[in-house]
Amino acid sequence: CLQRLDTFLHRSIGSDVVAAQAEAVRRDQSDAKDGSKSLYVVQAERQEQAERSVLISCHSRTNEKKFLKDLSKHGDIKKHFFYESYGVYAVVEFSSQESVASLLEGATIPAVSHESMVPFKSRLLSLRNLNSLDSSNQQAGQQRQPQTTPPINELIQRLSRDESIDHQITHLTESYQLTEENIRLRFLVCSLLNDIAAAYFPECTIKPFGSSVNGFGKLGCDLDMFLDLDGISGRNVKMPKSGLFLEYQMKRASSERAVTQSILSVIGECVDQFGPGCVGVQKILNARCPLVRFAHQPSGFQCDLTANNRVAMKSTELLYLYGELDPRVRCLVFTIRCWARTHGVTSSIPGAWITNFSLTVMVVFFLQRRNPPIIPTLDQLRELAGPADKSVIEGNDCTFVSDFSKIPLHSNTATLEQLLCEFFDFYASFPFSKMSINIRKGKEQNKPEVTPLHIQNPFETSLNVSKNVNNSQLDRFVALCQESTWLLQQRENNTPRRHTGGNTPGPWGLVQLLMPLQVAGVKGRKGKRREAASPGDSVRGEGSVQPTAVFQLIAMGG
Ligand code: GTP
Ligand code: MG
Repeated sequence: CLQRLDTFLHRSIGSDVVAAQAEAVRRDQSDAKDGSKSLYVVQAERQEQAERSVLISCHSRTNEKKFLKDLSKHGDIKKHFFYESYGVYAVVEFSSQESVASLLEGATIPAVSHESMVPFKSRLLSLRNLNSLDSSNQQAGQQRQPQTTPPINELIQRLSRDESIDHQITHLTESYQLTEENIRLRFLVCSLLNDIAAAYFPECTIKPFGSSVNGFGKLGCDLDMFLDLDGISGRNVKMPKSGLFLEYQMKRASSERAVTQSILSVIGECVDQFGPGCVGVQKILNARCPLVRFAHQPSGFQCDLTANNRVAMKSTELLYLYGELDPRVRCLVFTIRCWARTHGVTSSIPGAWITNFSLTVMVVFFLQRRNPPIIPTLDQLRELAGPADKSVIEGNDCTFVSDFSKIPLHSNTATLEQLLCEFFDFYASFPFSKMSINIRKGKEQNKPEVTPLHIQNPFETSLNVSKNVNNSQLDRFVALCQESTWLLQQRENNTPRRHTGGNTPGPWGLVQLLMPLQVAGVKGRKGKRREAASPGDSVRGEGSVQPTAVFQLIAMGG
């Protein structure tokens, strides 16, 4: 996708060139969606891959060649990589599950004198070496895959050297998005957890959802997991029409919520007592969506395990679909999420802030509102659905098309820079006090209730996904959108800076937007922000941003 986008970004302006480019983009876009697999298919492939994998704690000087030679005694290794998180770890994927069985067969139980072991064997192992590390190993080591994003200062310096805002946006996306290795690790952690849950429910599966799989995950984001017990839920069961049949005797509870709570309570207890590497387990069973939260130390992931959360899985599928339809969707979401985090619009602490999920829905809505629209509405996706796509969850219609090739796209050739600027302008003047954001209809609707920000939950349409947001957080968001629009309208801010004497060029384009903005100065500028685009009017007024620590660091090339 990013390669295609790169070609797309190198376009120049000219009417017939634009027409030819529009056609190329349309072709590119249809290639992207035709080649895409639905999330359901991707998940099944990744799950199977994870079941053939093991996670091994290694020594920092473990010799990669020797390590692989030793492990391949158990069978063909398909892929492996090393990473660092509280020590060095290796993910090793074998070609067949028999190899994993053979490896586990040969593993030993740790011999300890003052403690006792919980006798639960898993695919999380430690590499031990009876010979002390010989000198030939001293230089060995292994190449480690990064599992975190670059620090913001470093990213800002790199973006300052880019030659256009479009490049800055793709560069940011590439630096932040989950890597192939990180995705593999996420599925492997789910698979390890699955082994614990399967002790009680052999037919269950633990699947990742949310930003780990919806295409909008940033390195370091939490791992949302969903315990899928649908195979034994009694839903979609066909009753025999006549004759004798047997049914299971099962314990009953007062509600589905009570069942979810008791299952999560037991699994949470198992994770706490028996799960190697799982620490800080908290059972948050009275939340609207009950969950078990813990840290998985070997991967470094903060994990949230839920059950019976099929609607969230559907919204994950929907966001994934939107991200696959057009490469500009992901780029814009990453950029807006990064911008929002930098300015404290979003936070890792729960509170009255806009969440990443709400922000993503806002970007989707904005892209549906382009002329012509860049992505279709949820109602349009529902119309395109086939009989196999029908999905009703707890009375909510969650049907939408799964075959991407059936989705017609309009030929909108707006650049990322244009879209970014239009996004800020769109929300700087959005009638939040009266209207609700609705991606099902792709049109703002009258607000059904008094609340500062109303974003209709796409599948549970009576709910507002941004119910938590208060007036002051919404005002800050709007003020920051106004400030950012104004900054992007200043021509001098949008021209790449030249390198001077080997120093990093000064901040420009997207970099300016990622530096502290002076929201207080926005009100005075509100009326002027459209005229400010003229070339002679590029000097900032009294409300301008003062050079910050980040800026000084860049100016010094530090
Ligand atoms: P980050 O974890 O911040 O990277 O993003 P995320 O999309 O994973 O968000 P989060 O972990 O908060 O939630 C996980 C998933 O739960 C989301 O992707 C949604 O599918 C769903 N979700 C989160 N918040 C809401 C909400 O308010 N309403 C609904 N219906 N679903 C939500
Ligand atoms: Mg998440």
